[in-house]
Amino acid sequence: MNSENNNYLITLKNLTKRFGKLAVLDDVSLSFEKGKTTVIIGPSGCGKTVLIKHIIVLLRPSEGEVYFHNERIDNLHEKQLAKVRTQMGFLFQSGALFDSMTVEENILFPVMQHTKIRDRAKLQEIAKAKLAMVGLDGFQEYYPAKLSGGQKKRVALARAIALEPEVILYDEPTTGLDPIRSDVINELIIKLKKDLGITSIVVTHDMKSATKIADRIIMLHKGRIEADGDAESIQNSPSQVVQRFIKGEISEGDIQSMQVSFEDIKTNGKK
Ligand SMILES: Nc1ncnc2c1ncn2[C@@H]1O[C@H](COP(=O)(O)OP(=O)(O)OP(=O)(O)O)[C@@H](O)[C@H]1O
Ligand SMILES: [Mg+2]
Repeated sequence: MNSENNNYLITLKNLTKRFGKLAVLDDVSLSFEKGKTTVIIGPSGCGKTVLIKHIIVLLRPSEGEVYFHNERIDNLHEKQLAKVRTQMGFLFQSGALFDSMTVEENILFPVMQHTKIRDRAKLQEIAKAKLAMVGLDGFQEYYPAKLSGGQKKRVALARAIALEPEVILYDEPTTGLDPIRSDVINELIIKLKKDLGITSIVVTHDMKSATKIADRIIMLHKGRIEADGDAESIQNSPSQVVQRFIKGEISEGDIQSMQVSFEDIKTNGKK
Protein backbone atom coordinates (compact mmCIF):
# COMPACT_ATOMS: atom_id res chain seq x y z
CA MET A 1 0.00 0.00 0.00
CA ASN A 2 2.98 2.31 -0.28
CA SER A 3 2.93 4.77 -3.17
CA GLU A 4 6.68 5.36 -2.65
CA ASN A 5 7.39 1.77 -3.55
CA ASN A 6 8.74 1.71 -7.09
CA ASN A 7 7.29 -1.68 -7.88
CA TYR A 8 3.89 -0.06 -7.96
CA LEU A 9 2.59 1.71 -11.01
CA ILE A 10 -0.79 2.78 -9.72
CA THR A 11 -2.01 3.45 -6.20
CA LEU A 12 -5.48 4.19 -4.92
CA LYS A 13 -5.39 5.75 -1.46
CA ASN A 14 -8.48 5.69 0.74
CA LEU A 15 -10.71 5.98 -2.29
CA THR A 16 -14.35 6.66 -1.57
CA LYS A 17 -16.88 7.33 -4.30
CA ARG A 18 -20.45 8.39 -3.67
CA PHE A 19 -23.21 9.02 -6.12
CA GLY A 20 -25.70 11.02 -4.09
CA LYS A 21 -26.19 8.96 -0.94
CA LEU A 22 -24.95 5.75 -2.51
CA ALA A 23 -21.36 4.93 -1.47
CA VAL A 24 -20.08 2.74 -4.28
CA LEU A 25 -16.46 2.61 -3.13
CA ASP A 26 -15.79 2.80 0.57
CA ASP A 27 -12.25 3.69 1.64
CA VAL A 28 -10.46 1.40 -0.81
CA SER A 29 -6.66 1.39 -0.69
CA LEU A 30 -4.91 -0.62 -3.35
CA SER A 31 -1.66 -0.64 -5.31
CA PHE A 32 -1.08 -2.28 -8.68
CA GLU A 33 2.31 -3.80 -9.33
CA LYS A 34 4.31 -3.07 -12.48
CA GLY A 35 4.36 -5.81 -15.09
CA LYS A 36 1.69 -7.90 -13.34
CA THR A 37 -1.87 -8.81 -14.19
CA THR A 38 -4.37 -7.93 -11.49
CA VAL A 39 -7.92 -9.16 -11.92
CA ILE A 40 -10.87 -7.52 -10.20
CA ILE A 41 -13.92 -9.68 -9.59
CA GLY A 42 -17.16 -9.16 -7.74
CA PRO A 43 -20.92 -9.18 -8.18
CA SER A 44 -22.69 -6.92 -10.62
CA GLY A 45 -22.96 -3.39 -9.30
CA CYS A 46 -20.20 -3.75 -6.69
CA GLY A 47 -18.15 -0.92 -8.21
CA LYS A 48 -15.63 -2.61 -10.51
CA THR A 49 -16.16 -0.28 -13.46
CA VAL A 50 -16.32 2.73 -11.15
CA LEU A 51 -12.98 1.66 -9.68
CA ILE A 52 -11.16 1.40 -13.01
CA LYS A 53 -12.71 4.65 -14.21
CA HIS A 54 -10.89 6.33 -11.32
CA ILE A 55 -7.57 4.97 -12.57
CA ILE A 56 -7.94 6.90 -15.82
CA VAL A 57 -9.74 9.67 -13.96
CA LEU A 58 -12.91 9.44 -16.00
CA LEU A 59 -14.42 9.72 -12.53
CA ARG A 60 -12.99 11.78 -9.68
CA PRO A 61 -12.98 10.53 -6.06
CA SER A 62 -15.39 11.85 -3.45
CA GLU A 63 -12.52 11.27 -1.04
CA GLY A 64 -9.05 9.85 -1.42
CA GLU A 65 -6.37 10.01 -4.07
CA VAL A 66 -5.11 8.28 -7.20
CA TYR A 67 -1.39 8.03 -8.05
CA PHE A 68 0.32 7.02 -11.28
CA HIS A 69 4.10 6.65 -11.06
CA ASN A 70 3.94 8.17 -7.57
CA GLU A 71 2.36 11.28 -9.02
CA ARG A 72 -1.08 12.35 -7.94
CA ILE A 73 -3.40 12.41 -10.95
CA ASP A 74 -6.97 12.66 -9.63
CA ASN A 75 -6.65 16.43 -9.29
CA LEU A 76 -5.13 17.17 -12.71
CA HIS A 77 -6.82 19.30 -15.36
CA GLU A 78 -8.22 17.58 -18.45
CA LYS A 79 -5.29 18.78 -20.56
CA GLN A 80 -2.71 17.28 -18.19
CA LEU A 81 -4.82 14.15 -17.92
CA ALA A 82 -4.85 13.68 -21.69
CA LYS A 83 -1.07 13.34 -21.50
CA VAL A 84 -1.20 10.84 -18.64
CA ARG A 85 -3.83 8.82 -20.48
CA THR A 86 -1.50 8.29 -23.46
CA GLN A 87 0.41 5.94 -21.15
CA MET A 88 -2.74 3.95 -20.41
CA GLY A 89 -4.65 1.80 -22.84
CA PHE A 90 -8.25 0.95 -22.15
CA LEU A 91 -10.56 -1.60 -23.54
CA PHE A 92 -14.16 -0.98 -22.66
CA GLN A 93 -16.81 -3.63 -22.57
CA SER A 94 -18.45 -2.45 -25.78
CA GLY A 95 -15.15 -2.42 -27.68
CA ALA A 96 -16.31 0.89 -29.16
CA LEU A 97 -14.63 0.91 -32.56
CA PHE A 98 -15.47 3.78 -34.89
CA ASP A 99 -17.80 2.20 -37.42
CA SER A 100 -17.08 4.72 -40.15
CA MET A 101 -13.35 4.02 -40.03
CA THR A 102 -11.42 1.06 -41.33
CA VAL A 103 -9.54 -1.20 -38.94
CA GLU A 104 -6.30 0.60 -39.80
CA GLU A 105 -7.82 4.04 -39.26
CA ASN A 106 -9.21 2.87 -35.92
CA ILE A 107 -5.80 1.72 -34.76
CA LEU A 108 -4.07 4.87 -35.98
CA PHE A 109 -6.61 7.20 -34.40
CA PRO A 110 -4.74 7.60 -31.07
CA VAL A 111 -1.45 7.84 -32.96
CA MET A 112 -2.78 10.76 -35.04
CA GLN A 113 -4.21 12.38 -31.92
CA HIS A 114 -1.23 12.08 -29.64
CA THR A 115 1.91 11.88 -31.79
CA LYS A 116 3.43 13.86 -34.63
CA ILE A 117 4.01 10.80 -36.80
CA ARG A 118 2.58 11.51 -40.28
CA ASP A 119 4.83 9.45 -42.53
CA ARG A 120 2.47 7.07 -44.36
CA ALA A 121 4.90 4.14 -44.41
CA LYS A 122 5.65 4.57 -40.70
CA LEU A 123 1.95 4.71 -39.85
CA GLN A 124 1.23 1.59 -41.88
CA GLU A 125 4.07 -0.16 -40.12
CA ILE A 126 2.60 0.70 -36.70
CA ALA A 127 -0.86 -0.58 -37.70
CA LYS A 128 0.62 -3.75 -39.15
CA ALA A 129 2.71 -4.48 -36.04
CA LYS A 130 -0.24 -3.96 -33.69
CA LEU A 131 -2.55 -6.07 -35.84
CA ALA A 132 0.06 -8.81 -36.00
CA MET A 133 0.15 -8.80 -32.17
CA VAL A 134 -3.55 -9.69 -32.11
CA GLY A 135 -3.38 -12.04 -35.08
CA LEU A 136 -5.27 -9.81 -37.52
CA ASP A 137 -2.64 -8.53 -39.93
CA GLY A 138 -4.38 -8.36 -43.31
CA PHE A 139 -7.60 -6.89 -41.93
CA GLN A 140 -6.41 -3.28 -42.32
CA GLU A 141 -9.03 -2.25 -44.88
CA TYR A 142 -12.02 -3.96 -43.24
CA TYR A 143 -14.80 -1.94 -41.65
CA PRO A 144 -15.92 -3.02 -38.14
CA ALA A 145 -19.34 -4.14 -39.45
CA LYS A 146 -17.60 -7.00 -41.28
CA LEU A 147 -15.87 -8.32 -38.14
CA SER A 148 -17.08 -10.86 -35.58
CA GLY A 149 -17.40 -9.89 -31.90
CA GLY A 150 -14.09 -11.52 -31.05
CA GLN A 151 -12.32 -9.82 -33.95
CA LYS A 152 -13.71 -6.44 -32.88
CA LYS A 153 -12.32 -6.95 -29.38
CA ARG A 154 -8.93 -7.82 -30.85
CA VAL A 155 -8.93 -4.70 -33.03
CA ALA A 156 -9.91 -2.64 -29.98
CA LEU A 157 -6.98 -4.25 -28.17
CA ALA A 158 -4.65 -3.41 -31.10
CA ARG A 159 -5.85 0.19 -30.81
CA ALA A 160 -5.33 0.15 -27.03
CA ILE A 161 -1.68 -0.82 -27.55
CA ALA A 162 -1.08 1.60 -30.45
CA LEU A 163 0.71 4.12 -28.24
CA GLU A 164 2.63 1.37 -26.43
CA PRO A 165 1.10 2.09 -23.03
CA GLU A 166 2.57 0.85 -19.78
CA VAL A 167 -0.77 -0.26 -18.49
CA ILE A 168 -3.93 -1.61 -20.06
CA LEU A 169 -7.29 -1.56 -18.33
CA TYR A 170 -9.82 -4.11 -19.50
CA ASP A 171 -13.48 -4.00 -18.55
CA GLU A 172 -15.03 -7.43 -19.15
CA PRO A 173 -12.86 -8.27 -22.16
CA THR A 174 -14.35 -11.75 -22.63
CA THR A 175 -18.02 -11.05 -21.94
CA GLY A 176 -20.21 -12.09 -24.83
CA LEU A 177 -17.53 -14.23 -26.43
CA ASP A 178 -17.65 -17.99 -26.80
CA PRO A 179 -15.07 -20.00 -24.79
CA ILE A 180 -12.58 -20.26 -27.68
CA ARG A 181 -12.70 -16.56 -28.48
CA SER A 182 -12.46 -15.77 -24.76
CA ASP A 183 -9.35 -17.84 -24.56
CA VAL A 184 -7.81 -15.94 -27.48
CA ILE A 185 -8.23 -12.75 -25.43
CA ASN A 186 -6.77 -14.48 -22.34
CA GLU A 187 -3.74 -15.56 -24.35
CA LEU A 188 -3.30 -12.03 -25.70
CA ILE A 189 -3.32 -10.55 -22.20
CA ILE A 190 -0.67 -13.08 -21.18
CA LYS A 191 1.36 -12.37 -24.32
CA LEU A 192 1.31 -8.59 -23.80
CA LYS A 193 2.68 -9.11 -20.31
CA LYS A 194 5.35 -11.56 -21.44
CA ASP A 195 6.49 -9.79 -24.62
CA LEU A 196 6.03 -6.14 -23.69
CA GLY A 197 6.01 -6.19 -19.88
CA ILE A 198 2.61 -4.51 -19.88
CA THR A 199 0.80 -4.07 -16.58
CA SER A 200 -2.81 -5.23 -16.86
CA ILE A 201 -5.85 -4.55 -14.75
CA VAL A 202 -8.75 -6.71 -15.79
CA VAL A 203 -12.33 -6.57 -14.62
CA THR A 204 -14.15 -9.82 -15.24
CA HIS A 205 -17.03 -12.05 -14.18
CA ASP A 206 -15.28 -14.99 -15.71
CA MET A 207 -13.51 -17.01 -12.98
CA LYS A 208 -11.91 -19.32 -15.50
CA SER A 209 -10.31 -16.41 -17.28
CA ALA A 210 -9.34 -14.82 -13.94
CA THR A 211 -7.61 -17.99 -12.79
CA LYS A 212 -5.74 -18.29 -16.06
CA ILE A 213 -4.39 -14.76 -16.40
CA ALA A 214 -4.13 -13.35 -12.88
CA ASP A 215 -1.03 -12.85 -10.80
CA ARG A 216 -3.39 -11.44 -8.25
CA ILE A 217 -7.17 -11.45 -7.82
CA ILE A 218 -9.07 -8.83 -5.88
CA MET A 219 -12.69 -9.34 -4.99
CA LEU A 220 -14.81 -6.28 -4.36
CA HIS A 221 -17.97 -6.55 -2.33
CA LYS A 222 -20.16 -3.69 -1.14
CA GLY A 223 -17.52 -1.15 -2.05
CA ARG A 224 -14.74 -2.82 -0.08
CA ILE A 225 -12.01 -5.36 -0.71
CA GLU A 226 -13.35 -8.75 0.37
CA ALA A 227 -10.33 -10.79 -0.73
CA ASP A 228 -6.91 -10.17 -2.23
CA GLY A 229 -4.42 -12.84 -3.26
CA ASP A 230 -3.35 -15.28 -5.95
CA ALA A 231 -5.87 -17.57 -7.66
CA GLU A 232 -5.21 -20.39 -5.22
CA SER A 233 -5.73 -18.27 -2.12
CA ILE A 234 -8.99 -16.95 -3.57
CA GLN A 235 -10.16 -20.51 -4.31
CA ASN A 236 -9.36 -21.41 -0.70
CA SER A 237 -10.67 -18.22 0.85
CA PRO A 238 -12.56 -18.76 4.11
CA SER A 239 -14.94 -15.93 3.18
CA GLN A 240 -18.50 -17.13 2.49
CA VAL A 241 -18.99 -14.21 0.14
CA VAL A 242 -15.98 -15.26 -1.95
CA GLN A 243 -16.95 -18.93 -1.96
CA ARG A 244 -20.50 -18.15 -3.07
CA PHE A 245 -19.25 -15.85 -5.79
CA ILE A 246 -16.76 -18.30 -7.28
CA LYS A 247 -19.27 -21.14 -7.12
CA GLY A 248 -21.92 -18.93 -8.66
CA GLU A 249 -24.27 -19.41 -5.72
CA ILE A 250 -26.89 -16.97 -4.61
CA SER A 251 -26.94 -15.67 -1.01
CA GLU A 252 -29.84 -15.17 1.42
CA GLY A 253 -29.40 -11.43 0.95
CA ASP A 254 -29.68 -11.78 -2.82
CA ILE A 255 -32.84 -13.87 -2.49
CA GLN A 256 -34.36 -11.36 -0.11
CA SER A 257 -33.65 -8.46 -2.43
CA MET A 258 -35.06 -10.46 -5.35
CA GLN A 259 -38.24 -11.22 -3.40
CA VAL A 260 -38.63 -7.51 -2.89
CA SER A 261 -38.42 -6.96 -6.62
CA PHE A 262 -40.77 -9.89 -7.38
CA GLU A 263 -43.25 -8.27 -4.98
CA ASP A 264 -42.78 -4.99 -6.82
CA ILE A 265 -43.45 -6.70 -10.14
CA LYS A 266 -46.60 -8.36 -8.77
CA THR A 267 -47.97 -5.16 -7.27
CA ASN A 268 -47.09 -3.14 -10.36
CA GLY A 269 -48.67 -5.81 -12.53
CA LYS A 270 -51.95 -5.55 -10.62
CA LYS A 271 -52.12 -1.79 -10.99
N1 LIG B 1 -22.24 7.88 -13.17
C1 LIG B 1 -22.95 7.28 -12.23
N2 LIG B 1 -23.94 7.92 -11.57
C2 LIG B 1 -24.65 7.32 -10.61
N3 LIG B 1 -24.46 6.05 -10.22
C3 LIG B 1 -23.52 5.35 -10.84
C4 LIG B 1 -22.71 5.91 -11.87
N4 LIG B 1 -21.83 4.97 -12.31
C5 LIG B 1 -22.09 3.88 -11.56
N5 LIG B 1 -23.07 4.09 -10.69
C6 LIG B 1 -23.59 3.12 -9.70
O1 LIG B 1 -22.49 2.57 -9.01
C7 LIG B 1 -22.68 1.20 -8.73
C8 LIG B 1 -21.51 0.40 -9.25
O2 LIG B 1 -21.48 0.47 -10.65
P1 LIG B 1 -20.38 -0.26 -11.51
O3 LIG B 1 -20.68 0.08 -12.92
O4 LIG B 1 -19.02 0.06 -11.01
O5 LIG B 1 -20.68 -1.79 -11.21
P2 LIG B 1 -19.89 -3.06 -11.72
O6 LIG B 1 -19.28 -3.73 -10.53
O7 LIG B 1 -18.98 -2.67 -12.82
O8 LIG B 1 -21.11 -3.98 -12.25
P3 LIG B 1 -21.21 -4.92 -13.56
O9 LIG B 1 -20.53 -6.20 -13.17
O10 LIG B 1 -22.67 -5.12 -13.73
O11 LIG B 1 -20.55 -4.21 -14.72
C9 LIG B 1 -24.01 0.83 -9.37
O12 LIG B 1 -24.99 0.86 -8.34
C10 LIG B 1 -24.25 1.92 -10.37
O13 LIG B 1 -25.62 2.15 -10.55
MG1 LIG C 1 -18.98 -2.98 -14.88
